[in-house]
Amino acid sequence: MEQYVIKGGIPLIGEVEIGGAKNAALAVLTAAVMCDEPVIIDNIPDIRDIGVLLDSIKRIGAKVERIGKHSVKIIGKTIDTVRVDYDSIKKIRASYYLLGALLGKYKKAEVPLPGGCNIGIRAIDQHKKGFEALGAKVKIEHGMIMAETNSLKGCHLYFDVVSVGATINVMLAAALAEGNTILENAAKEPHVVDAANFLNSMGANIKGAGTDVIRIKGVKSLHGTEYSIIPDQIEAGTFMLAAAATKGDVIVRNVIPKHLEAISAKLTEIGCQITEEDDAVRVFGNSELKHTQIKTLPYPGFPTDMQPQMTVTLALSQGTSIVTETIFDNRFKYVDELARMGAVIKVEGNTAIVDGVRKLTGAEISVPDLRAGAALVIAGLAADGYTVIDDIQYIERGYENFDEKLRQLGGQIKRVTCEKDIQRFKLEVC
Ligand code: UD1
Repeated sequence: MEQYVIKGGIPLIGEVEIGGAKNAALAVLTAAVMCDEPVIIDNIPDIRDIGVLLDSIKRIGAKVERIGKHSVKIIGKTIDTVRVDYDSIKKIRASYYLLGALLGKYKKAEVPLPGGCNIGIRAIDQHKKGFEALGAKVKIEHGMIMAETNSLKGCHLYFDVVSVGATINVMLAAALAEGNTILENAAKEPHVVDAANFLNSMGANIKGAGTDVIRIKGVKSLHGTEYSIIPDQIEAGTFMLAAAATKGDVIVRNVIPKHLEAISAKLTEIGCQITEEDDAVRVFGNSELKHTQIKTLPYPGFPTDMQPQMTVTLALSQGTSIVTETIFDNRFKYVDELARMGAVIKVEGNTAIVDGVRKLTGAEISVPDLRAGAALVIAGLAADGYTVIDDIQYIERGYENFDEKLRQLGGQIKRVTCEKDIQRFKLEVC
């Protein structure tokens, strides 16, 4: 079993380079199957979720050629089935983008319904509503969601909830529909914009991505392109909060500072110094941090994917902070683990009341999901003594070389596979 062992209490200091955005890459790689010509995509993160998606794209017959650690060539011409098998989808929810992509291109798609999720209910009704508005018949049977039509027709759709997944999925199908589509109450996340920019580089006609109204003029077909994925806002935010929680001084490079504004604003509010360059953000956290209130919201609000990392930082700040989670209903599972490290946090419904403590202490803890895992690593780096973290496969779904990047900042962390490795690490760092 892979684990991280950490000796905490050392401020992170130095520079870290951020990779391509996982959530943008998942959408863009899927969209790439929508044309028959070769598509080259650069700056994809080398992480488990991307490997799983590329595998599911291969399984429907597309050619997938890795042309570098962070680049891939995809040729959608050879696709021979519109039925995605369960093995592909059960590992990552985002393979449901294949529904929009295949429906747009072939007017038919069958994708297993994504199963339950560690962070809460993940409904799919807005995806279904969008495909139906485009004229598809959508059925849910035998664990599959099936969509089919003779032709997709542009529509005027108002989403009932702001959903990243539904916005991207419906946008994919609408790109190849006849006529104009208007999507209202659309998600505005940077990865929605990246997916739209990518589709436009393949010849789609999409305007307004990044606002809550997206206008799509359907085109007959898409062509090959070469495209580079945007930097990962959540990876960047995670390192920013690791700097704050350990009272360090870190320059986070290769970022779009605008995408990090909600995080930078909260860090400034609790007493960190933030400076921005064109493509970098510096976080200087060498002072007592203060309490605040956080409410997760769709972009440009505070991202739910940064909520656990922020809660860990507030657990080490003076006073009582309130963290309200409005996007997912089961996103405080990590709090019990954090309490074992000495954090004082009470969860009531979708709110965590965080009484800041002066220090956390290392413990043996388990990771419940991806972002909570990153947060627990931050807790271990800030805590006194040793922390051993189980179930790090969740973290590796979304962070490339996480331990290595933290070591470059002076973090004492190692990926280990047995008790002997842990003992060796303790001898090395003592
Ligand atoms: C995406 C991100 C995920 C992030 C989330 C919110 C990817 C691959 N994942 O997930 O990291 O945490 O956005 O920023 O990009 N909902 C419905 N009906 C639907 C769809 C969603 O009610 O048809 C609800 C969900 O239950 C949830 C909320 O809308 O409460 C937001 O979900 P959504 O934005 O769709 O999240 P994902 O796209 O799954």
